[in-house]
Amino acid sequence: MSPIGVFDSGVGGLSILRALRAEMPAEDFVYLADTGFAPYGERGDAYVIDRTRAIVQRLLDEYAVKALVIACNTATAAAVHLVRAEHPDLPLVGVEPALKPAVALSRTRRIGVMATRGTLASAKFAGLHDALKDRAEFVLQPCDGLADAIQAGDAAQVAALCKRYTDAMAPFGSRAGEVDTLVLGCTHYPFASAELQALTGADVRLIETGEPVARQARRLLEAAGQLRDPAATGRIELLATGSLDALQSAAARWLSLRA
Ligand code: DGL
Repeated sequence: MSPIGVFDSGVGGLSILRALRAEMPAEDFVYLADTGFAPYGERGDAYVIDRTRAIVQRLLDEYAVKALVIACNTATAAAVHLVRAEHPDLPLVGVEPALKPAVALSRTRRIGVMATRGTLASAKFAGLHDALKDRAEFVLQPCDGLADAIQAGDAAQVAALCKRYTDAMAPFGSRAGEVDTLVLGCTHYPFASAELQALTGADVRLIETGEPVARQARRLLEAAGQLRDPAATGRIELLATGSLDALQSAAARWLSLRA
């Protein structure tokens, strides 16, 4: 049976792939990191739409993927509606910053949202934010450079940017007026969650989107009768438009994956 296609601008979507594999261990996945054209976050919609279309076509032509997970908030915000319209029969799941779960969890009703500039500027995000902004106060923080620093494995730069952006959203804590919930609205950021948690303090909840996305992918495949025999052992194939070595070592580090 065909694999499930998953893509991101780089290693970030591995945080989604981790959840997908946990949810559907029998499935085969092909993961494409568009590292030759990354980052997406500060490049504008037209660029991200072009890249998304090219990748979707490649995954369909070369791998006949049976479903697609856009494991990138920026690409989802810019292009998910177009991919849906152009491939109406393809089970498709995108990711968006987890504002709704954050509203359900926050007690102080002050919620930090870290995402790329592209995601925060998108019409899709504006719709989500507008629907919820009466229920909590959202502190929106564009995090220029952070996905790129995580991608490059530049620990000093990751630490400096995490500090800069958490300082801008502070104070954190569980008292009135403090941010008690932090939404990681870019799939790269879970790989900096240790640094972020150290800066916010242990009481602040960091929210990522892998698990709900994986459950949704499973529901769609189930409904389409496309789930593999649960006794099968799934494989993961890694592809990159830039260096494959960098993706393989990130996957080995974060997913205990050897490709
Ligand atoms: N991982 C991507 C996201 O979720 C974007 C990173 C980038 O700027 O390329 O938004």
